[in-house]
Amino acid sequence: MHMDLNAIQTQISAELSQVASKQELENLRVKYLGRKGLLADLTSAIPGLPPEQRGAFGKEVNAFKGRLLVWLAEKEKSFGQAAHNLEKQPKVDIGMPGIAQELGHRHPITQIIAQICSIFTRMGFAVVFGPEVETEYNNFTGLNIPLEHPSRDAFDTFYLKDRARQLLRSHTSPVQVRVMKAYKPPLAVVVPGRVYRPDAVDASHLFMFHQIEGFLVDKNIRFSDLKGMLEFFARSVFGQKIKMRFRPHFFPFTEPSVEVDISCIMCQGAGCSVCGHKGWLEILGAGMIHPNVFTQVGYGPKAYTGFAFGMGIERIAMLKYGINDIRLFFGNDLRFLKQF
Ligand code: PHE
Repeated sequence: MHMDLNAIQTQISAELSQVASKQELENLRVKYLGRKGLLADLTSAIPGLPPEQRGAFGKEVNAFKGRLLVWLAEKEKSFGQAAHNLEKQPKVDIGMPGIAQELGHRHPITQIIAQICSIFTRMGFAVVFGPEVETEYNNFTGLNIPLEHPSRDAFDTFYLKDRARQLLRSHTSPVQVRVMKAYKPPLAVVVPGRVYRPDAVDASHLFMFHQIEGFLVDKNIRFSDLKGMLEFFARSVFGQKIKMRFRPHFFPFTEPSVEVDISCIMCQGAGCSVCGHKGWLEILGAGMIHPNVFTQVGYGPKAYTGFAFGMGIERIAMLKYGINDIRLFFGNDLRFLKQF
């Protein structure tokens, strides 16, 4: 009997490489090493060979059997290892507590806006929003800030290219014009929002910041109404103990105009580095709405009276919390933000 053991070996190794389970491996073992397997056939063929060939063939068959046993054992071991590897994998413990998500909260500027708006809504004011892209008319002319007038410099801003007479609003006051053109008095409105100015950035200036505008229009509104409401507002934000002071000022859209100070919350008026040793901190601008504004919105100059005020939110927040750099609000640094 002549058999090409090399060819058989090649075939077995190909079959072995296809084996994917212990059962398939066992089938293969039976096929070759079982009682009726190939090896048994080969062995039983030996006595039938011519005597001079028996020895050599017997040796070959034995060596072949040895190799086959090694292969099968190796394959079996690899299955064991795979199973062992699986065991070593970290098991999923579904009873384990999850990784807690940190709960976020509102940005300090958003918090102050909400607080100030709620002080005024409690007094009957409505909250209104206006667009950040405004017309030159609403930002300036409608507010009695004539074109070419030097007072425009204080509110100068970014103009939009290719959009005639459109700009990023430099204050929230243009919403006065929008609301008054759309509604008749009595009106009591607060307007929070972003404003833009081409200021060089430093510890107290940004090219974008937030303001809250407030205005009230009706018949017989007096300066004392403005004073009373601002006092209620300032005490609600900074505490009952603060003093207030109204300094004459100029705004084109109010007459008379004032800047409003509170006694320094750090030194209670004694003078310190926060208030520049003045004892006072400026918090907002205000005044009685100018008759020219009423004319611009179509009310006529004499029909109504009203007051308006405007404040920078970052400034209020900086004073309230003792923050010395406006840029901190927009650095997105959690170490800063988590404090509020
Ligand atoms: N718009 C003014 C500013 O941005 C603030 C202001 C508003 C003053 C309303 C008076 C009345 O500086």
